[in-house]
Order: sequence, then C-alpha cells, then structure tokens
Amino acid sequence: MCGIIGFTGNMPAKDVILNGLERLEYRGYDSAGMALLEDGGITLFKRTGKVADLRTLCANDNSPCTCGIGHTRWATHGGVTDVNAHPHLAGNVVLIHNGIIENYRQLIVEYGLADKLVSETDSEVVAQLLNIFYDGDPIAAIKKTIKLLSGAFALCIMFKDIPGKIFAIRNVSPMIATSCEQGSIIASDLTAVIAFTKEYFVVPEYHILTLSDDGIVVEDLKGNVTKPEILSVNWDITDAQKGGYPFFMLKEIFEQPDAIRNTIAPRIENGLPDFTEDGINDDIFAHCKRICVVACGTAMHAGMVGKNLIEEKLRIPVQVEIASEFRYKNPIIDENTLTIVLSQSGETIDTLEALKLAKTFGSKVLSIVNVKGSTIARESDYVLYTHAGPEIAVASTKAYTVQVAAMYLIACRIGLVKALMTEGEARQFISKLQSAPNIIEETLKHADTIKRVANQIKLSPDAFYIGRGLDYVMGLEAALKLKEISYVHAEAYAAGELKHGTIALITENVPVIAFATQEKVYEKVVSNIREVKARGAYVVLVTMDEAVNDPNICDQHIRVPRVSSEFTAFATAVILQMLAYYTSEAKGLDVDKPRNLAKSVTVE
Ligand code: AGP
Repeated sequence: MCGIIGFTGNMPAKDVILNGLERLEYRGYDSAGMALLEDGGITLFKRTGKVADLRTLCANDNSPCTCGIGHTRWATHGGVTDVNAHPHLAGNVVLIHNGIIENYRQLIVEYGLADKLVSETDSEVVAQLLNIFYDGDPIAAIKKTIKLLSGAFALCIMFKDIPGKIFAIRNVSPMIATSCEQGSIIASDLTAVIAFTKEYFVVPEYHILTLSDDGIVVEDLKGNVTKPEILSVNWDITDAQKGGYPFFMLKEIFEQPDAIRNTIAPRIENGLPDFTEDGINDDIFAHCKRICVVACGTAMHAGMVGKNLIEEKLRIPVQVEIASEFRYKNPIIDENTLTIVLSQSGETIDTLEALKLAKTFGSKVLSIVNVKGSTIARESDYVLYTHAGPEIAVASTKAYTVQVAAMYLIACRIGLVKALMTEGEARQFISKLQSAPNIIEETLKHADTIKRVANQIKLSPDAFYIGRGLDYVMGLEAALKLKEISYVHAEAYAAGELKHGTIALITENVPVIAFATQEKVYEKVVSNIREVKARGAYVVLVTMDEAVNDPNICDQHIRVPRVSSEFTAFATAVILQMLAYYTSEAKGLDVDKPRNLAKSVTVE
C-alpha cells in the first residue's frame, strides 16, 4: 500500500515529509518522492529505492519551503521506475495517490491523454484530468475530476499558482488529517503524524480538504463546510503501524476483503476475467494441455486450491509440486505445460530455481506474486500481481486468499479461452468470486467463537484437521498455520484415511477440527467425525449447515455462509487463520515473529 503525507505550516516541509515517509516505510514500497510548492513553482524529487535514497537526492535543497507532499509507492499499475514514482506533475498540477483507478484506460481514450502521459500509472491520468479542468478554481477542478473516477483513491493535490495550500479527497483508500502548532498535516495513517500530535480526524469520503498553515477546511461536494469528529490516540509509532491491532497478523486477516477486491477488480471487464492490463497472452492458456503449479508452504497450498477448481471445472490435469522437491527431480513437463508459480515475496529461492528449471523444458511460466518487480516476477514470462499490500506478519494470510482469488481468475480465463466454460457460466463464476470479500466479512464475525476454541486447544500437544476434497486441502493450510505460530503440532488428514492409522492417536480431548463444507461428501465426513467423537475427541465442526447441536457429532459448531462448494475456501481460510492466531495469542507468543521462521526464505 502506498504511503502519503502532506504538510503546510511554519517550518520547512522537506524534513517533515522525509521523516513522515520513513514512518510509513512499514507499509512496503519500492519508490519514494516529494514535491515542494514554492512561490510560482514546484520542485520535484522522486526515484526508485528507499526514503534514504530520496533524502540523498534532495540533500542539496535547503529551500525554506513550508508546503509539500510526499509519497512511498507500492507499485500496482506500471513498473518500478523513476518516472512511475509519485508525485506526478501535469501542467499546473502535482499530486500523489494511494489506490487503484479502475477506469483509467477508458479515461485516457476519452480525454486523448495518451500523448501527454510520461508514466504508465493510473495516478498520472488523474493529474492530467485535473490540469485540463483547472481554470483557477481548484475546488471546481477537483469536483469535475473525481466525478469521472471509479475505484479507490486518496489524493493530495497542489496547484502551482496557489502557494501554501494542499487539497485532498478520498474514496475507500485511507487518509487522516490534523492541525497542530507546526501547521496542517495529512497522511495515509497515524504513524506519519503521531510525532506532532495525538489528535486527528479521519478524512470523510468525498469531502474536499483545503490545508493551509492556519488550519484545514473540510467541505462536502455541495460546498457545505463540515467538522469531522476529532479523535485522539495513546498509541506509539509501532501500534499505529498496526492500525490499533495487537499484531500485524490480525490486521492482515481483517484486510483480506479489500485485498481481494483490489486484486480482482482490475482484472474484471464487463463481468469477465480480463488480463489485458497484465499483458498476459491468451496463447499460454489456449495451448496448455497440462498445468504444473510450483510453490512453497502457504503459497503451495493456495496452488492446491486452484488445482481442485481447475480439475473439477475444466478437467485439465494439474500437478502441484513442492518447489524444493521439483528443482531436484527430472520433471515431466514440456512446451504444452503451463507452469504457474506462486510466491508472496517473489524471492523464495526454491521457487525461483524451480521456475528456471521449468523454463528449460520449454514450459511458459506465469507467476502470481505480491511484490512488484521481485526476482520471481522478473524471471517469469508473465506475471499476475496480487494487490494485497505488504504482508508484515511471517504467517501468510491475505497473500494466501488473494493467491486463491488469482487462481480462480486464471481458471475462469482458461475456461473461456478453451471454450470449456460458456460466457454465461464465466459471468456467473466471476460474480461469485466478487462475493468472496463478503464471505470473508461474514466469517470474520465468528471471531469470539474461534477465540473460545483456541482457549480450549491451546494446551494440546496435537491437533488434527480432517476433511475431504477441498476441505482436506484447506486442512493442509490450517495445520501449517497452527504449527508455525502456536507451536501446537497439527496434521491434516483426508477424513476417509483416518481409520488407516491415525485414528490410533485419537484419545480423550484430542482436538479434531472437521471441515465439512463440501456437500457431496458431507455425510461421509460426518460418519468420520462420529468415529473420532466416539473415541473422545474434542470436535469442532465447520459446515454450512444450520446449527448442528448433536453432541455425538461436535462440541463446537461454526457455521459458514452457504455458497457454492468451491467458494467455501474463503470462509474456511479465515477460520483456520483466526484459530491459529488466537491460539498463539492465548499462549502469549509473538504471533508476528514465530521462532525459527523468516518472512521470506531467500537462502537454501
Ligand atoms: C506462510 O505462513 C509461511 N510463512 C511460508 O510457508 C510461506 O508461505 C512460504 O515460505 C512461501 O513464501 P513466498 O510466498 O514468499 O514464496
């Protein structure tokens, strides 16, 4: 997620902006920039790299300028380049932006902007439009421009001929603002302003802010001045970066609905999957006879969910390979195999080496990566970037569900290209995928129940996840999550496999979490549950069914929203993530930084 800061006041803006950008670094970024508004002119500094690099770039600028905007870019539209870094300048206008303008390509055509643009970004299109509409009245220009935009935006804007003033407006993307003795400040979140004041207000959506050195005017689109509620915090900087959550992992669990919306929205045109913007050529889908998915850990588990869907719906064989195994075997792939690589960091060494090996067999590689410009992305033939924003907690959560969503988009595109899905079926599928954020939001409401289960299982040495089909695949991710952050030894088992050995381990109060969301095998799973219940297990049953109060079946029932079987993954994912999280928290562990683990395994 990009970081935004604007300052206008009675002290040099440069240091306020640079220090503020340093406090926003935790949001993850690949470029940084700043614009200073001086009498009659705008001085622009921007480049790829860190805030420290930006500080070096503007080291010789000692202007007393007291008004400016700064930005850390987490690339979505357009590569990681100096010219794509913010701020963006267009004639009289300079701006910074956090968000995704979904219709920017259409606006480029409608307003004939192609020859004017110097960057590949959606943000510059907004600057160009503002410059077209600006005739001396900034508020009018802003109103005309935002009427055209669809998508999420947090914008800070300066006009060359209006010294000392910053204008701002948001829709969905976060922004807070405050006035203090040093002046007026606006930023993506509290971390950038907490050094000046603990009081702030949340910028109301579709309200235009005018910041000057003696305060902030907030007006709605009809020109009515409003006074947002002033809030105050007693957080320190680290707390502010967590947005008030105790750990980054919980924050990232709750960010999943927006992460999925930000990932799928730019790839849906007229209700159908569309990878035009990603430059992904349909030929790789048309010619593939088989698919090989290669990844590690949670990313691999996301690939397994994709396998389940593709084989079920499209009848195309999918092999899922553990990257560290794949790279040392003689894989059975060729030019008719599409290799799909998944990686949140884009730097996992085993996955990278597996990717390179796949290419030597003539296989085209499409990677699903969360970090723009990462090594795996650069080595791939095609990349589908997820827009989950930076994932700070070692345990992957939002990256996993956006990877699943990306796999679902790809599956639907393959179905269309190979005529294995009618357009009507594809539209229906995409409409269901667009409800995935709502499924997650509904399931997040079970947090208290899941917390109770966590307290019940936290002292168990072992726990078992059982399920069939997709539910078994979800169990694999559930077991990994529980192990890696709560240190409870957990195993996932195909429910029908229990009686072939593992049921010997089921004794009094051993926790068994049963995922039973796949309707066609529901009764089978229930009979497996009765087997473990009869041996004294503590059973948690996750199912779409109404309350299941039969004590012979379960001790705790968690009901997930009733959706098509393949979409229950988004509900089950949240449950397994929260169970792991609350178990770790109940044990007083460092949830974000579990022992022995790194966020990205970049060495063998
Ligand atoms: C996930 O919770 C783990 N931290 C780990 O399995 C991770 O998914 C794996 O290391 C792959 O990382 P990547 O997605 O960055 O390649």
